[in-house]
Amino acid sequence: MDFSTRYLGLTLKNPLILGASPLAHDRDAVCRAVDAGAAAVVMHSLFEEQLTAEEVAHDRHAAPGVEEFAEASSWLPSPAGYALGPAEYLEHLARLKRDLPVPVIGSLNGVTARGWLRYAKQIEEAGADALELNVYQLATDPDEGAEAVESRILAMVAEIGRTIAIPLAVKLSPFHTALAHFARRLTDAGVAGLVVFNRFYQPDIDVAELEVHHRLQLSTSSELLLRLRWLAILHGRCAKSLAVTGGVHDATDVVKAIMAGADAVQTVSGVLRHGPAQFATLLGAFESWLSEHEYESVAQMRGSMSLLKCPDPSAYERANYIQMLQSWPGRER
Ligand SMILES: Cc1cc2nc3c(=O)[nH]c(=O)nc-3n(C[C@H](O)[C@H](O)[C@H](O)COP(=O)(O)O)c2cc1C
Repeated sequence: MDFSTRYLGLTLKNPLILGASPLAHDRDAVCRAVDAGAAAVVMHSLFEEQLTAEEVAHDRHAAPGVEEFAEASSWLPSPAGYALGPAEYLEHLARLKRDLPVPVIGSLNGVTARGWLRYAKQIEEAGADALELNVYQLATDPDEGAEAVESRILAMVAEIGRTIAIPLAVKLSPFHTALAHFARRLTDAGVAGLVVFNRFYQPDIDVAELEVHHRLQLSTSSELLLRLRWLAILHGRCAKSLAVTGGVHDATDVVKAIMAGADAVQTVSGVLRHGPAQFATLLGAFESWLSEHEYESVAQMRGSMSLLKCPDPSAYERANYIQMLQSWPGRER
């Protein structure tokens, strides 16, 4: 049985990746995840806000009077509030790279094509095999249209592309106006892979305290469905390679993601819930599923239910919506 896959031009021994999370800070936990079968590791992100605040703090020290960032960032952690500062992050990455027999992917997280992007080069120099750029942002500005949002992200990609030779993946939001078209623009701009999708943590309202609450809840498999549809749409048409992130909790989720078109499958919530041994559980059940269903390789399964290949492509498009609305039986069963 051949479990190997290619993602971002890298050969992975199987499709399972430890996604970006604080777990990456814990060397022992990462080693246990890799021993349990994780075929690659994505580092926790370095955040634009963190890197910018570090620079401002440095400038303020060097040239007292630079206060511009202080007020605007009062709701953000101070530079010391992040688990690892940039220098420690790069050292930690280099150490993981030395210690682990699998690819290590660095992660940058931000939204502007500014100076903080020079950390892409430093992540490469620290030994990362690839870089994931997370562009987590909601387009809430009524003055900024879709073209401007896309151009901003493309400018970030171009800026990074000028400085690094390692492959770049972009971790996307599902909320782009014309996602398939934008995915193709990113690919044409040199992006080696797309990660679908960022998970948006939904704020809630405390009606008694009149406050907006944020509470991080781990995902469930129901969140995979949005990703499956878009993996199926993008596979073979708009991206060189695809990873799924969000809602992968059991072997059936892994099978579905690969059938839809994922080259790699990231998981975080399941690992935070069950520990690094989750990789052994997932991989064992995945391997059993493949042999029970007489698959000889992961490649054989990849994209078999994508828009290009699935017997009924309309299932991913508007026909599916109309059929579903018409099939309502009249009462909840
Ligand atoms: C505690 C926590 C921290 C995370 N930190 C990052 C991060 O630094 N960068 C990033 O791109 N994604 C981060 N994520 C998002 C995950 O990488 C992943 O995309 C998301 O949790 C969905 O996958 P899951 O359903 O397997 O949890 C974080 C998620 C959690 C739960």
